[in-house]
Amino acid sequence: MDDASAKLFAAAAAILWISFLGCCYSSLAISQRLKFDGETGEFRILQVADMHFGNGKTTRCLDVYRSEKPWCSDLNTSAFIRRMILTEKPDLIVFTGDNIFGFDATDAAASMDMAFAPAITSNIPWVAVLGNHDQESGLSRKAVMQHIVGMNNTLSQLNPSPDDDDDARLFVDRFGNYNLEVNGVAGSRFAHKSVLNLYFLDSGDYSTIPSVSGYGWITRPQKQWFQNTSSKLKRRYMNGPEPQKGPAPGLVYFHIPLPEFSSFDESNLTTGVMQEDVCSPSVNSGFFKAVVEAEDVKAVFVGHDHLNDFCGQLTGINLCYAGGFGYHAYGKTGWPRRARMVSVSLGKLEDGSWGDVNSVRTWKRLDDEELTAIDEQVLWTKTSRRKHNLD
Ligand SMILES: *[C@@H]1O[C@H](CO)[C@@H](O)[C@H](O)[C@H]1NC(C)=O
Ligand SMILES: *[C@@H]1O[C@H](CO)[C@@H](O)[C@H](O)[C@H]1NC(C)=O
Ligand SMILES: *[C@@H]1O[C@H](CO)[C@@H](O)[C@H](O)[C@H]1NC(C)=O
Ligand SMILES: *[C@@H]1O[C@H](CO)[C@@H](O)[C@H](O)[C@H]1NC(C)=O
Repeated sequence: MDDASAKLFAAAAAILWISFLGCCYSSLAISQRLKFDGETGEFRILQVADMHFGNGKTTRCLDVYRSEKPWCSDLNTSAFIRRMILTEKPDLIVFTGDNIFGFDATDAAASMDMAFAPAITSNIPWVAVLGNHDQESGLSRKAVMQHIVGMNNTLSQLNPSPDDDDDARLFVDRFGNYNLEVNGVAGSRFAHKSVLNLYFLDSGDYSTIPSVSGYGWITRPQKQWFQNTSSKLKRRYMNGPEPQKGPAPGLVYFHIPLPEFSSFDESNLTTGVMQEDVCSPSVNSGFFKAVVEAEDVKAVFVGHDHLNDFCGQLTGINLCYAGGFGYHAYGKTGWPRRARMVSVSLGKLEDGSWGDVNSVRTWKRLDDEELTAIDEQVLWTKTSRRKHNLD
């Protein structure tokens, strides 16, 4: 194929692909529909942290050059999402909270409609969790999450469905705890197994205990739900059909960093920078320990601290920030807004067909002219697990 027809072909394929998604992803949350790409054996996730959306074009940007101030608004945040989607063609978009900046959003629902519009119109499935600012406009945390769940093309859920064994009634004031399963390639031996598990949690807003100040933490019932879900998925994966020797890899997304994010300093970050304090809750509720013990999770992704975009590794778990995305969020003048990508890749079986997950990679893109990709790294590979397990 020459260059021009290759481009035409790619464009036609893109249109077909978009219209295919358009036909099949309705606002019904059918998580089983997520699956790996049969051509590339990849599943790509775009993380958008801290959009801090206000009212759209009248909401000004923070921490940009003085010369840009008159032209810069929430619309720049939307433009950045659209560019990321076109460039990376993610299979899922994850908004990790502070999606709107409640104090400045006159109408929370209208602000969310604008904030998520680029994801919705792309027809790519998307999900969101809550941060600590989403409820600071006219809607409660529950109402904010209910609004999100009702939007088009989202796989977000309010909480585990009542027909699960999970007891969501225990989640006092926590909204948006759910998991998604990503199946292997259609027609492959893993077509009906979740080879990648995604967990989403509401890390709360502020402490509700008068003697404890600061941010909220993941509560005991949420931790139990995570443990229950992880072990249920592990049992299924390790039993037939196609029984596996260990759990499928998992990734966890929420807003507020765990206290363990402060176990690093500049000397032992894997990639990225730490330019501000890690603003975790002052209570350690043991979620990190639960994640280590669950044995499936390879990485935890958060937002909240806009000037931190690092990954570090602790006890075999990668702890990663995305870095601030939104223009109405505090930032650092001259340090571009950014987004984190994760690409999970399948390996091939002896017969050449697609198998289970082989590696998890990540990188970030800056909102500069070229959407420069930086800090690419491998978070996990199956070979390293095999080395440990086989000896
Ligand atoms: C915001 O968008 C406007 C219009 O496209 C552009 O001129 C301006 O440079 C952008 N500002 C920033 C800080 O990206
Ligand atoms: C959601 O999608 C449906 C079907 O495409 C459309 O009729 C409806 O207007 C959309 N709702 C919103 C809020 O965009
Ligand atoms: C987790 O499982 C245990 C044991 O089955 C159950 O008692 C508990 O309610 C579950 N917790 C949640 C939050 O689902
Ligand atoms: C990083 O290095 C500091 C000392 O510079 C040390 O206190 C800390 O434990 C190290 N963290 C990890 C995760 O290795």
